[in-house]
Amino acid sequence: LLPEHVTLVEVGARDGLQNERRVSAADKVMLINQLSETGLTHIETGSFVSAKWVPQMADSNQVLQQIARKPNIVYSALTPNIQGFEQALEAGANQVAIFTSSSEGFCHKNIHCSIAESLERFAPLMELARGNGIAVRGYLSCVVDCPYDGPTPPEKVAAVAKALIEMGCYEISLGDTIGTGTPLRIARMLEAVNHHIPVHQLAVHFHDTWGQALANIYQALSMGVNVIDTSVAGIGGCPYASGASGNVATEDVIYLCEGLGIKTGVALNKIAQAGWQICNKLNKLPASKVSLALLAR
Ligand code: HMG
Ligand code: MG
Repeated sequence: LLPEHVTLVEVGARDGLQNERRVSAADKVMLINQLSETGLTHIETGSFVSAKWVPQMADSNQVLQQIARKPNIVYSALTPNIQGFEQALEAGANQVAIFTSSSEGFCHKNIHCSIAESLERFAPLMELARGNGIAVRGYLSCVVDCPYDGPTPPEKVAAVAKALIEMGCYEISLGDTIGTGTPLRIARMLEAVNHHIPVHQLAVHFHDTWGQALANIYQALSMGVNVIDTSVAGIGGCPYASGASGNVATEDVIYLCEGLGIKTGVALNKIAQAGWQICNKLNKLPASKVSLALLAR
């Protein structure tokens, strides 16, 4: 049974731009301001991580402070630890996301600790967030395969997702970081997670490296998932997963949903326009087939 409405979490300004050539803070602000006019209700604006590891996100503070905010939009940021959380709070993020992995190999490469250690790091952050009335989203990487450890057992994904929910995350975004998933494996993973967590607390975050993201999203929709992470023009990748391409394109997911009679509340043409503009800055074409088809029409 398909949902009637889905929420798109726009991650292009973070997941997209963290792995593209650097653009200026002004260009990011322009992108986020354009995205704010499309009907999106959740825009990830950047991350408060070590600039040594992800220099593209070093100006997230400036970006958050300079955007023109709309009252009905969540402007969120990634925070790996207390230090990042405090910076995000000061910059005015109205929501944060913590992130870990369902595989040890990727966890070590990405945030330099084990899964258990990452959860320990998050505990004081969660407490501070609660005290400040800030909702926390939880990201889980490598829910299908890990570039270092191979296939991830669905039970492992379920166990870490459960731990994040028990810590107080309101939603878990399940990341197919390297985009190797296919619908059957996505279904098995979602079933295992859904055994512990109600589907309304789950989001899917699919990278399109192997071209399966839309098929996998259709699978997730058919299982009741109604929050989807997408990236305008399909920009991005992941610095710790070589060869990873961007998240599924926002334009493509809107077109899929419209075809299925599912409301997104987001204007396709406006997203496509924002996508062309940031792609001009990046000196590349959109990775969205829908965007290219719209232009040719
Ligand atoms: P660490 O390397 O383990 O070591 O950091 P540390 O805690 O000892 O800190 C090292 C240095 O970073 C120190 O500075 C700290 O002050 C600084 P130094 O003494 O060397 O000058 N530092 C920070 N700086 C800014 N902001 C902070 C912060 N914390 C410490 N919050 C840490 C651990 C996690 C910070 C580091 O490993 C890091 O920043 N990693 C980058 C992680 C990242 O951004 N990855 C990409 C996002 S996740 C993703 O894309 C996946 C997702 O999309 C889902 C999916 O697709 O799977 C979400
Ligand atoms: Mg990602």
